[in-house]
Amino acid sequence: MIACDGKVAATGAVMCVVGARPNFIKMAPILRALAAHTPPVSHLLVHTGQHYDQSMSEQLFADLSLPRPDLNLEVGSGSHAVQTAEVMRRFEPALDAYRPSCVVVVGDVNSTLACALVAVKKGVPVVHVEAGLRSFDRAMPEEINRVLTDQISDRLYTTERSAADNLAREGIAARRIAFVGNVMIDSLLLHRPHAPPAAVTLQRHGFDPGLVSGREGYGVVTLHRPSNVDDPKVLRDVLSSLREASVRLPLVFAMHPRTRSNIERFGLKDLVDGGRIVVLPPQGYLEMLGLLNGAALALTDSGGLQEETTALGVPCLTLRDSTERPITVAEGTNTIVGSDRAAILAVIDEVQAGGGKRGRVPELWDGGTAARIAADLWDWLQQRPHLPAVN
Ligand code: UD1
Repeated sequence: MIACDGKVAATGAVMCVVGARPNFIKMAPILRALAAHTPPVSHLLVHTGQHYDQSMSEQLFADLSLPRPDLNLEVGSGSHAVQTAEVMRRFEPALDAYRPSCVVVVGDVNSTLACALVAVKKGVPVVHVEAGLRSFDRAMPEEINRVLTDQISDRLYTTERSAADNLAREGIAARRIAFVGNVMIDSLLLHRPHAPPAAVTLQRHGFDPGLVSGREGYGVVTLHRPSNVDDPKVLRDVLSSLREASVRLPLVFAMHPRTRSNIERFGLKDLVDGGRIVVLPPQGYLEMLGLLNGAALALTDSGGLQEETTALGVPCLTLRDSTERPITVAEGTNTIVGSDRAAILAVIDEVQAGGGKRGRVPELWDGGTAARIAADLWDWLQQRPHLPAVN
């Protein structure tokens, strides 16, 4: 465990936790809003180290102007049990040392649940940002993390109104929930003007920028869900569909390390090499925004990209059988296509013929979510009688 600056923060600060790539994007505006609140809300940042590659962690900290974490638990990779347990083991002494007023967790990754669980058992209130989303698919590790984190959270901030219905069904009192909007869109609106165009990103990686300036446009691909990339047959099918799609329009594939290693392990490199698929390493936040901003469509199994494409008005084909973000389908640009080859190609044809699904930006996805969270959190903390006892 590394205390990044050697200081011990004053007891009673809000402890903000991040672990994996999408967490960084959500937490950056919250930290800014806590600092900008009148009066400023004292806070500190803990990085569990779940994501640790330069491209998956440091690059995003730089892009999002995130402060250096006060503490990095450096847990790294492992099975779900090992990773979750290791975060818990290393987070407990951090709670004892810093004695925060509450712990703020975001999203649905293993670090989210692990830190929430340690905090609640020590009597430290848990605040969950992006609460109440449900795919209703318990085979997804993230769904388990969502359900359990919400159950043990004291204050729950939601991104869309349907989340409150999900929480009500699970017995969570309405007074614990606040609909604040989508903090990820705060980051998007702030950084969009600084995102480099796709051609610049391709050139930087030694590819012909002409590939993304043709009349048919280009698609952006990301893929990392265990259900898509851990089984050789499923991965082969998905990549074959992408290969076929690339005949219709060139694809820029920003490849997660897990996906890259599985493609190599399963001998599937032929399906992505050559042709009109450009394979890039995981991209920084600004590069990814730039790629999405200029794209004709996105093909993805990411949760965050479903929201970002809706905010940008770019058609999104979700390579999963469900989404926990139904508003992106009901109001946004998202279509659930699963892994069905024909469905994928049909939606691409539709996009190429008429531009595809247009959609509108959902309620409170307006760039003001983090400020609403900071204001609510401040009021909520004022109403709490005293700091939690630490064992
Ligand atoms: C995690 C989240 C997922 C989120 C995703 C964003 C869980 C259960 N999953 O999935 O919800 O959408 O982050 O990327 O928490 N690896 C590296 N370098 C890194 C990080 C990971 O090489 O910096 C490789 C390792 O081989 C590792 C594998 O990726 O074993 C998986 O990483 P892990 O953090 O366990 O899950 P993700 O698939 O990234």
